[in-house]
Amino acid sequence: MIWRVALCACFIHLLASLAAVEAPAGSPIEQEVEPVDASTTAKPAETPLIPRAVLFDNPDRADVSLSADGKTVGYLAPYNDVLNIWVIPIDELLKNLSTARPVTFLKGRGVMAFVWTYMPGMVIFGQDHDGDENMRLWKLDINKKVLKPEVLADKPGVFASLIRPFDRKHPELIKLALNERDKRFHDHYIVNLVTGKSEIYFNNTVGFKGLVYDNDGRLRLGYREDLTGGNEYMRANWSGDGRQILSWETYRNVSFEDKGITQVAGFSKDNSEIYWYNAEGRDFGVLLVHPFDNPANKTILYTPKKSEIASAFFHPFDYTLLSVTENYERHERYVMNETIRADIELLRTLEDTEIFGISYADLDFDKWFVTFYFDNLPATMYYYDRKTKRADYLFSSKDILLDMVLSRMHPVEVKTRDNLTMLCYISLPVESDPKGTGRPFGPLPMVLSVHGGPSSRDYWGFSPDVQHFTNRGYAVLQCNFRGSSGFGRAFLNAGNGEWAGKMHDDLIDASNWAIQQKIALADKIAIEGGSYGGYAALVGLTFTPDFFACGIDVVGPSNLVTLVETIPSYWAPAYNSFVRKIGGDPRTKAGREFLISRSPLTFANRIKKPLLIAQGANDPRVKRNESDQIVRALKKNDILVTYLVYPDEGHGFRRPENQMSYHALAERFLSNCLGGRFEPTTNETKASSVEVIEVGGLTKDDNDVLILT
Ligand SMILES: *[C@@H]1O[C@H](CO)[C@@H](O)[C@H](O)[C@H]1NC(C)=O
Ligand SMILES: *[C@@H]1O[C@H](CO)[C@@H](O)[C@H](O)[C@H]1NC(C)=O
Ligand SMILES: *[C@@H]1O[C@H](CO)[C@@H](O)[C@H](O)[C@H]1NC(C)=O
Ligand SMILES: *[C@@H]1O[C@H](CO)[C@@H](O)[C@H](O)[C@H]1NC(C)=O
Ligand SMILES: *[C@@H]1O[C@H](CO)[C@@H](O)[C@H](O)[C@H]1NC(C)=O
Ligand SMILES: *[C@@H]1O[C@H](CO)[C@@H](O)[C@H](O)[C@H]1NC(C)=O
Ligand SMILES: *[C@@H]1O[C@H](CO)[C@@H](O)[C@H](O)[C@H]1NC(C)=O
Ligand SMILES: *[C@@H]1O[C@H](CO)[C@@H](O)[C@H](O)[C@H]1NC(C)=O
Ligand SMILES: *[C@@H]1O[C@H](CO)[C@@H](O)[C@H](O)[C@H]1NC(C)=O
Repeated sequence: MIWRVALCACFIHLLASLAAVEAPAGSPIEQEVEPVDASTTAKPAETPLIPRAVLFDNPDRADVSLSADGKTVGYLAPYNDVLNIWVIPIDELLKNLSTARPVTFLKGRGVMAFVWTYMPGMVIFGQDHDGDENMRLWKLDINKKVLKPEVLADKPGVFASLIRPFDRKHPELIKLALNERDKRFHDHYIVNLVTGKSEIYFNNTVGFKGLVYDNDGRLRLGYREDLTGGNEYMRANWSGDGRQILSWETYRNVSFEDKGITQVAGFSKDNSEIYWYNAEGRDFGVLLVHPFDNPANKTILYTPKKSEIASAFFHPFDYTLLSVTENYERHERYVMNETIRADIELLRTLEDTEIFGISYADLDFDKWFVTFYFDNLPATMYYYDRKTKRADYLFSSKDILLDMVLSRMHPVEVKTRDNLTMLCYISLPVESDPKGTGRPFGPLPMVLSVHGGPSSRDYWGFSPDVQHFTNRGYAVLQCNFRGSSGFGRAFLNAGNGEWAGKMHDDLIDASNWAIQQKIALADKIAIEGGSYGGYAALVGLTFTPDFFACGIDVVGPSNLVTLVETIPSYWAPAYNSFVRKIGGDPRTKAGREFLISRSPLTFANRIKKPLLIAQGANDPRVKRNESDQIVRALKKNDILVTYLVYPDEGHGFRRPENQMSYHALAERFLSNCLGGRFEPTTNETKASSVEVIEVGGLTKDDNDVLILT
């Protein structure tokens, strides 16, 4: 559920230093299997109903990471039902997990993300205000007797982010990006964690969209968009004493078409060479390195075969390339440096999955945390000591899932009407697919689940939403329609200007494929999604009003003119590429007309199938007005709609009680439309913040509980 617009540079993010690496060895795309003739096959027993709370309540543990010195483990886990930071010394963790202790005690949305700094015991964590994405940041010394978080950044309307990498030579110094002076641009500040003093490091009057730092935490490059939406990289010309930037000099230009797969991957140990993921005239791009001062002297390090490079794993202090991953149907890891081969080979034997991510202690590369991912099991975590080659199983992300019968996810290739290949995933109710072929006994009601972005993608792996749908009796189809990222330059750019155009045709083609393959019942397909996926659901019911049985739109835009006119202020530096992707600039007459012609709002009167809309009131990307507008238009045309607003949420729902009430109402809605089963609603709507603005088909049951009938 994200619009992927680069906010502020490659090295600015809140997440811990996860070297997000994934896995190896390809199982080929599923062979197409003849569907089993339903008439000759006995109907299998139903799998037990999975309670919503099992899928949508907090995880037991998430975001596990090692402190920089490798001595302490931190993770997010519920404290009074709200995600907070817990810590435990590494030695204790291996002996007795029960000795872990919480160190934050936030209420409401809890801790959204945290990182260890290079100061022993010092963590930084963040939380926004009820989904507005204006992150505020605190520091906390977990070794102090009295645990007292201190504010680093908390100004109304200001989006604070932490700049990585941290400076190893000055553990007490961090850098923050704040859009306080001008809401469009982030200035960068140096903050001393000991004294609390803060001073300006870089005043972004140049209007850079992103900034790139080297391994010593020195600003080297900035980039801004040109009028065509391409990226103009400029290098900082530092004074000889290294105290100030004298000027910015042109460095390289990356075209609008290339920039989706062109970005800085890092610097060499002495910062004299720069690594790039680079389009380089190839559809999937390459990973290359060149001397910073001599861009013409390029050395290609890796050329991917099946997809774009998903990630590159560099040594944390040698900065040499260790492995890369590609992700076509699943993550595949390729070892690039022999020093880690034995470790990777050993890890591959631990679990029945080759998909794992490695995080490590920033200052001690022998201590790894390894997370294994599955489609039908929770993630499992191990501690791995590279010196002793010993791996210890620690825990799963959610133990209760281990007792559930969960469905598998099957990659399939689907052709579009104009002969593009789309990578999709099919998931089926367990009882419909006992042999795991990805083809059911007979056609089923189906949920077409559309990802957000749209420059994003669906991945193979565990998804609570998918498990929810399959457990209730539906096939689930997820497709990487054109414009999705990861599948190359041509596929990404084929989505430009195709909102409600060819991107929608792809979803129809995929649904028709599922009908023809006897996976889906033609008159029982629901379209569902968040963000761009919510827009796709609205497009489904307006541009193809007979095709789908019903639709669910979560935080989806309905009016592309107001969508573009109300983007968050700090997206302004990415405006040109944003409107080029959508296909029209509302500041021009032609652009405005185009956007109107691709807006579901324009065709609201065509809707004839049940529609559920859910919106977070504080969503900064897709404003509440996007949902309000279409609901108003439907009412004007006497069309029933169910409209839920969550006053304490933003671009999606975070609090477990809100998740639970949304899914309680959504599964009842789907049951009406597709005929699947549901778990009776108890007190979820009351326990959550939901405001039912339009009831649509909603009524109250005997216990005075709101339900959809
Ligand atoms: C683990 O730690 C908990 C909490 O300190 C303690 O109650 C329990 O006895 C310990 N268990 C073992 C096996 O040491
Ligand atoms: C940043 O630049 C602006 C415009 O030149 C100036 O008004 C402002 O004072 C500067 N801020 C700092 C912190 O230097
Ligand atoms: C850096 O700035 C100085 C002072 O304006 C100028 O003389 C020099 O040519 C610049 N260097 C580069 C590489 O542009
Ligand atoms: C990048 O484009 C700008 C504007 O067209 C131009 O002035 C500059 O010379 C270009 N830089 C490079 C390195 O090609
Ligand atoms: C070209 O780059 C490589 C690696 O980045 C370096 O080893 C080599 O010395 C460079 N050659 C020249 C002529 O700059
Ligand atoms: C492999 O990694 C080790 C450890 O970082 C490094 O010393 C070595 O130079 C790397 N080898 C190559 C060929 O990059
Ligand atoms: C469709 O694309 C495939 C490659 O994916 C190609 O082999 C085939 O010839 C194309 N068919 C048509 C009708 O263009
Ligand atoms: C909501 O959108 C409508 C256009 O449909 C616009 O006229 C109105 O001003 C917007 N309201 C707000 C609060 O932005
Ligand atoms: C809702 O019901 C659950 C289980 O029956 C109970 O644990 C919880 O306290 C109730 N919450 C509210 C707000 O009534």
